[in-house]
Order: sequence, then structure tokens, then C-alpha cells
Amino acid sequence: MIRTYCCVLFLYFCSMETVVSGARPTGGLQIGNYFGAIRNFVQMQEEFDKCYFFVADYHSLTTHPEAKELNYHVKELLATYLACGLDPEKATIYIQSHLPQIPELYLLFNMFAYKGELEKVPTFKEKVRSQTESGKSVNAGLLTYPVLMSVDILIHRALKVPVGKDQLAHIEMARDYAKRFNYMTKSEYFPEPVGFSYTKELIKVPALDGSGKMSKSAANPNSAIFLMDEDKVLRKKIMRATTDSGPTEENQAKPEVIENLFDLMRLVSTEDVVCHYESAYNDCSIRYGDMKKQLAEDMAQLVNPIRERIKDLIKDETYLAKVVKDGGEQARESAAKTLKGAKELMGMNYFG
Ligand code: ADP
Ligand code: TRP
Repeated sequence: MIRTYCCVLFLYFCSMETVVSGARPTGGLQIGNYFGAIRNFVQMQEEFDKCYFFVADYHSLTTHPEAKELNYHVKELLATYLACGLDPEKATIYIQSHLPQIPELYLLFNMFAYKGELEKVPTFKEKVRSQTESGKSVNAGLLTYPVLMSVDILIHRALKVPVGKDQLAHIEMARDYAKRFNYMTKSEYFPEPVGFSYTKELIKVPALDGSGKMSKSAANPNSAIFLMDEDKVLRKKIMRATTDSGPTEENQAKPEVIENLFDLMRLVSTEDVVCHYESAYNDCSIRYGDMKKQLAEDMAQLVNPIRERIKDLIKDETYLAKVVKDGGEQARESAAKTLKGAKELMGMNYFG
């Protein structure tokens, strides 16, 4: 009896924790975005009272400043959120640049973010390499990317941040900035946010060509499965995924590209199907062609209906505009409260 009561109480307090996350409108979403982030957003909106999900348009400007593309991708990302199941009645959905409090808190946070630590962030180093390789400059926004991301989270004093594994270093920095602010102001104003996933750990969906993480802005578009891929394209990409010549000894360890294929299968296929191909691998009878066909079929079952819903929603600009108008109002209210409190703690409430 007491145990049940404690359990209910625990769930009640959990549901009061604030959730924040977003994605960059740098292109159509791929299934890594879906499994690493969006799928968790959809489940969390059912379990948490305050969920904020946004389109990180400022973050896109750090690497993708083309106006026409940005404008389209913002609408496409909104349509994608809704097509995947985000519900404006259950979560606050908004565009980052609709909150003037974000650039203001970002400016304040920049005063206690240090150049040296920002230069050491692995994602910054990686972006400097890829920008330089493609002859593009590295702007100051790229250096302070983690500061802006910390502000996105802390502007609602959020605790839970559903993201993929690649974002862990950024979340750690958000925790550091929260701690630094609290220390400076002798307060406990900001909570220390943590990355969240319903899976055991934050996940990393692999690319189809063995090049690491699947990404919507990868150089090789065939390395990613996009939620907007037509059925035929999707199947072709999977059939062409990198494999090897097959196992030669029973129970031999899988090379990374094969493990990747199994990882993708674990995301979309039933346990029985995965087990079947695991044993076929272990007794060397596996035929990668058959495995890929099955994987393509199961992937298509997920992607096809989402793609069709995105196509419908993207045409309905009136509805998309209403969603972000309402969401923006709610988000601004929360952001204004947080900013006011932070400025007071910093002594910036000069005349009351
Ligand atoms: P991309 O790297 O494709 O441009 P974003 O940086 O906009 O994607 O990421 C949006 C969200 O999707 C983040 O939470 C990120 O961690 C997650 N995500 C992106 N790619 C993957 C992946 N391959 N596996 C798991 N999560 C991912
Ligand atoms: N940096 C994240 C990405 O590349 C996008 C993002 C911006 C974000 N601000 C955020 C994610 C705040 C979670 C919380 O995917």
C-alpha cells in the first residue's frame, strides 16, 4: 500500500519536471532525428505537464544561412513535428526566434562562458574542420553554439532534454552554466538539466555507409534515410547499404558496418525478425540481400505514413502559423518570467 502510494507520488513529481528540446531546420529530418529525438518528444508530451519543443532557427544560421532554404525548412520541420505526433494541445511548439528573451539571456550567459572551453568542444572542432574543408568561414555563432543551446533549455528552467547521443557534451555544458550562474548569484535558480531517452542510453543511429552517425547534413545524401524519402528511394538506399562478404566462422564478431545494419533493424523490426537474422549470422547462413529487403519493408512501414502527413501539413500554412502563434505566446510567458528572475539575481533590477 505504502509502496503504491510512493510510486504514485514519484510519478506525480516527475510529471511536473519541465522538458525542452529542439532540432535545427537545416534540411528534412532523417530517421536518426526521429529515433534520437522526436519519438521521445511524442511520448514525453503524454507524461510531462510542461513540454517545450521548438525549431532552432538561430542555430541553423551558424552553418546554413541561406534565406530561402531556412524559410522552407522551418515550415517543413514544424510540419514534421506534427506529422510525427506532436500535439499543440499537449506540448508548446514554437520557433526559437519568436522569443526575444532568448538572445537577451544568451548575451548575459556569454559573459560567463569562456573562449578556451568553447574552443575545446568536440562538435565545434568537428564543424571547424568541415566548414574549412568546404571553403566556408567559421562564425562567432558557431563558437558560442553551446551557450545558445544552454539558454534554450534554461530559459524554461527545464530539467529533461530528449536528444541523441551526439548532444551529450552540449547538455553537460548547460549543466556547467547553470551551476556557474547559481554559484555567482548564490542561488539555486537554474536546475541542472540532463539528456533523456526512453531507451537505456541516449542513442546514435548509424549512417548507411559506415561513415559514423546518420546526419541530415552529411556530404553523402545516400547515407541517410529521410522522413521525406519516397518508398522507392528509401528501399534503394537500404539495398545499397555497406556490408561485407559475410561471416566465415560460426559466432564470429560482427564488423561495425554489419552491427550498424542490425542496429537499424532493432529500431524498426520485431524481436523475432531480429533474432532470425542474428542466428542466421551466427551459423553463417545469412543473406544480406534478404535481411536488407526485410529492413527496407519495416522501415517503409514507419516512414511512408509520416511522409504523406508531412506533405499534407506543409500545404496548410494557416494551421502551421496558428500553432506557432499560440505556442510562441505560451513560451514567451515562461521565458519572460525566467529572464526577469535571472536579471534580478544579477542585480539588474536597478529602479525596482
Ligand atoms: P543533424 O545532425 O541530422 O543535422 P540535428 O543536429 O538537427 O540533426 O539534431 C536534432 C536532434 O536529432 C538532436 O537531438 C540530435 O541528437 C538527434 N540526432 C541527430 N542525428 C542523430 C542520430 N544519427 N542518432 C540519434 N540521434 C540523432
Ligand atoms: N543542438 C541541437 C542539435 O544540433 C539542437 C538544439 C538547439 C537543441 N537547442 C537545443 C536540442 C536545446 C535540445 C535542447 O540537434
